[in-house]
Amino acid sequence: MGESMTGLKRSHMCCDVNESLIGENVTVMGWVQKRRDLGQLIFIALRDKTGIVQAVVNGTSEAEIFAKAESIRSEYVVAIKGTVAARTEENINAAMKTGKIEIIAQEVRILAESETPPFPIEENSPVKDDLRLKYRYLDLRRPDIFRNLQIRHNVAQVVRKFLNNESFMEIETPILGKSTPEGARDYLVPSRVHPGNFYGLPQSPQLYKQLLMVSGMDRYYQLAKCFRDEDLRADRQPEFTQIDMELSFVDVDDILDINERLIQNVFKEILDVDVQIPFKRMTYAEGMERFGSDKPDLRFGMELKNISKVVADSEFVVFKNALENGGSVRAINANGCGHFPRKQIDSLVEFVKTYKAKGLAWIVVNDDGSIKSQISKFFTEEKMAEIVAAMDAKAGDLILICADSDKVVFDSLGALRLEIAKRLELTKADDFNFLWITEFPMLEWDDEEQRFVAVHHPFTAPMDEDLDLIETDPGKVRAKAYDMVLNGVELGGGSIRIHRNDIQKKMFSLLGFSEEDAYTRFGFLLDAFKFGVPPHGGLAFGLDRIIMLMTGASSIRDVMAFPKVKDASCPLTDAPNVVDLIQLNELGIEIKAIEEEKDI
Ligand code: AMO
Ligand code: AMP
Repeated sequence: MGESMTGLKRSHMCCDVNESLIGENVTVMGWVQKRRDLGQLIFIALRDKTGIVQAVVNGTSEAEIFAKAESIRSEYVVAIKGTVAARTEENINAAMKTGKIEIIAQEVRILAESETPPFPIEENSPVKDDLRLKYRYLDLRRPDIFRNLQIRHNVAQVVRKFLNNESFMEIETPILGKSTPEGARDYLVPSRVHPGNFYGLPQSPQLYKQLLMVSGMDRYYQLAKCFRDEDLRADRQPEFTQIDMELSFVDVDDILDINERLIQNVFKEILDVDVQIPFKRMTYAEGMERFGSDKPDLRFGMELKNISKVVADSEFVVFKNALENGGSVRAINANGCGHFPRKQIDSLVEFVKTYKAKGLAWIVVNDDGSIKSQISKFFTEEKMAEIVAAMDAKAGDLILICADSDKVVFDSLGALRLEIAKRLELTKADDFNFLWITEFPMLEWDDEEQRFVAVHHPFTAPMDEDLDLIETDPGKVRAKAYDMVLNGVELGGGSIRIHRNDIQKKMFSLLGFSEEDAYTRFGFLLDAFKFGVPPHGGLAFGLDRIIMLMTGASSIRDVMAFPKVKDASCPLTDAPNVVDLIQLNELGIEIKAIEEEKDI
């Protein structure tokens, strides 16, 4: 049972107690990190969100206080009133911010007891994720996770201040909206008043923010909760937060400019890191050609090279088939990896298979300049030398070659490049390498659905230069769409929107919507556009991803207060859960059959 706070008032946070207060009385409150008992001396390390301070109960204290101090356990909530004293030279702890002082306790109150926590509340202590998330409120007491949330808060403040200064207005848009899935699946919320009808939770405030431009808001932003029913990964959660914005009377350059200044400002204010602007810009086509990726990590080289021409006349059936089928033969030079043991090279071959590559050919340039390769029997010595020269390979290098459709080659070598960099530890988390990827294709052919789908979304404007291609070769149309990429992670993306009715209609028909379909889904937006729509565009950052990279966290879970696990459930609250029959009846919902619980 806890004692009351009556008559006590906190005077300082734990880490604010310092040498300037020596001789003065202070009152601190917090959780007990540790109690050390040395017979006539009891040390209590007390922790609050600022850190830890040491208090001492000594033999001169009243017996009652001494007994109370003896009963204290880890994570008890305690108030300590006492006098600040300098520690003796041999007791100074340089590793602690408050290591030069301690508080000689005159009063100790146990405000709440605590059971033994399921894991130690310490920085970086190795605890299984599921346990951490079940007891997330304890996990959040750990200083590293607390720090991440503090940085998140600070970033949000800086973002708001910056955008306010740029004449943006923060406007909230609804969470209960219309389901218009495109991309991920929507989360649905049944309506009680309209049985059989559903709201969709927003995958982003896209349509609302475009309506706000029609309304003349000119510049909108929002730290918006978004919901997407998609498979989770380290950088994906079913609900996450965007820094979402939309601007009127702008073109691509205006949006890139404002957002690189925003990011520069955030990195300076929060990390004191100077980010150079303008950022590098690379078209999507160049990103694929050089790095096999639309979000290349530029912290290291190892670029892809197209050696199709070099091997064009080869009789090696693997290469020949790929080229005859319209694909390509491309390679990377893993500098200095020629010494990789065979087992490691074989594991790289296995690795690319997960990206649908049928295989991976390799050439080792030995230290004496001779060549070792499993494909040398298919080529003349001169041809092998030509490949080595085309790849700028020197003694000790390892060339890795993939032949397939362009998509498979880019996916495989793009991922292989990252994998090798990881194995060689080529990257540093605090080396921030930003770039813009521009000129994304507008459409992508979906084999499964046998139709084009929008690469960004159906409201993204085509590039003016490519307008004619909409009729003749839609797959080649480039869009006014852009992504900001940091160290191989897509931080944010956006586009200039279509504001011409004729182009929007063409876009819908390319996407396979009948006019009626398009109207049923997006009629409210199309109607709004009849009443004077300014040219507009915008962008949304993943706030969680920005914080993940700024803090060096390995997952966005570590920068969210209450994240979900891989199967989109919450171990803390047990959401999602079965609901009462009464609730279902009210909603007019009947559960057909519940599949047996699967082990996902
Ligand atoms: P987009 O779908 O590219 O664009 O999303 C913008 C940014 O949001 C982040 N993000 C995610 N973060 C965590 N978990 C997820 N599941 C997740 N999905 C996306 C990414 C991404 O870059 N309305 C458009 C923006 C616009 O056109 O203005 C949009 O939502 O960092
Ligand atoms: P195979 O004739 O299928 O045994 O292939 C000969 C060598 O070429 C093997 O070592 C394969 O790893 C490699 N290889 C197979 N498919 C590909 C491919 N698509 N691209 C590059 N190399 C490949």
